[in-house]
Amino acid sequence: MDKIRILGGRALEGRIAIGGAKNAALPLMAASLLTRQSLVLTNLPELLDIATMAGLLAQHGVGVSRRKGDGDSRGPLELNAAQIASTTAPYDLVRKMRASILVLGPLLARCGHARVSLPGGCAIGTRPVDLHLQGLERLGAVVELEGGYIEVRAPKGLKGAEIVFPSVSVGATENLLMAAVLAEGESRLINAAREPEIGDLARCLQAMGAKIEGIDSGCLRILGVGELHGAHHAIIPDRIETGTYVMAAAATGGRLTLTGTRLGLLAALARSLEAAGVALTEREDGIEVCAGSRALTSVDVTTAPYPGFPTDLQAQMMAVMAVAEGASTITETIFENRFMHVPELARMGADISVHGASAVVRGVKHLLGAPVMATDLRASVSLVIAGLVAEGETIVNRIYHLDRGYERLEEKLAACGARIERVGDGG
Ligand code: UD1
Repeated sequence: MDKIRILGGRALEGRIAIGGAKNAALPLMAASLLTRQSLVLTNLPELLDIATMAGLLAQHGVGVSRRKGDGDSRGPLELNAAQIASTTAPYDLVRKMRASILVLGPLLARCGHARVSLPGGCAIGTRPVDLHLQGLERLGAVVELEGGYIEVRAPKGLKGAEIVFPSVSVGATENLLMAAVLAEGESRLINAAREPEIGDLARCLQAMGAKIEGIDSGCLRILGVGELHGAHHAIIPDRIETGTYVMAAAATGGRLTLTGTRLGLLAALARSLEAAGVALTEREDGIEVCAGSRALTSVDVTTAPYPGFPTDLQAQMMAVMAVAEGASTITETIFENRFMHVPELARMGADISVHGASAVVRGVKHLLGAPVMATDLRASVSLVIAGLVAEGETIVNRIYHLDRGYERLEEKLAACGARIERVGDGG
């Protein structure tokens, strides 16, 4: 398996183009199952998870093709589900990516049946799907679990209902939203997740003819329609990719311009980094980050559903705090077991102690390069950030997870002065 080799110690300087949001693209692709007509998506990132979702949809009978041109260098993606060939999402595909569960709601709403293998994905805690299933039951579906598969049936169609989520779930909100748009009558999703990716999905569904009110709030009101039609939709910028490069600039004392993105998607991160001493400026074509050569000040961070500090930026923040002045407490409230980067950062000289869901990070003057490995997407990239700061050579092993979520990571960083390269197993 490929590795990434980094020779640290250089401040990042330059421009990086931010891609479309992976976590918006995945539910949007699943939404193509809701209509016989074509859904055309632009600003789609080129990532392993996107290819996995395309493979899963193709297996359901969706025509997946790239259109050339339209100002998008790679061309828009056209998804056409004129006919659904299978309502089963098999284990072999679902185990590669947890977001495969997002086909459950659309398949059920369109076909009255879906059978989806229980998901795998990142090894961050148990990550159940009970909220998805309870919500679908409220819409009138019969749910069974057998042989590692979830089977849901609604032969007479779904019926609108009020669903109160006991806790906030991004995936469950998306699945229920996609099911409710074709249910008969009115549905309300209360305590819904408010992540920008959900707003993006809701706006695309509106363009497909869905009736949705309360977008970007914690209460979505949906009036079911008999049928949806095709649409063109441009995916929002990836706020997690943006935040990751913001933190790479912050940690290395660099200056970056990130294009094709918006500061408004990152308010919680911006507040924390500004308190730490990083200057963030909104520009016409994106964001400018300037860290300067002075050490950053430690800040405390607690992850929370949007608009709180994103759990998907927690590991990267820890790498930044590892070289800040003073002590920082980083608390993870969304996922259990999401501190797998801690022992790896410690191998590079970081001073971190974990107490339950909190980690106390005492900033050190220098990190030292080392061979490291991580088992989830955001943990892996935090090790890349640490490697950019560290003295000497860092080898990040098992970079499979990085390719799931970061497009041409080493190219983008190398173009800004980082000494970073991908090497094959022999390298
Ligand atoms: C999505 C994101 C992921 C991000 C996460 C939280 C995608 C493809 N992935 O994941 O990158 O880290 O939001 O912002 O968009 N839970 C339950 N029961 C359920 C569903 C969730 O208990 O039925 C729990 C989870 O275990 C977790 C919490 O709720 O502790 C939040 O999970 P959720 O918001 O559902 O995350 P995902 O949609 O899986």
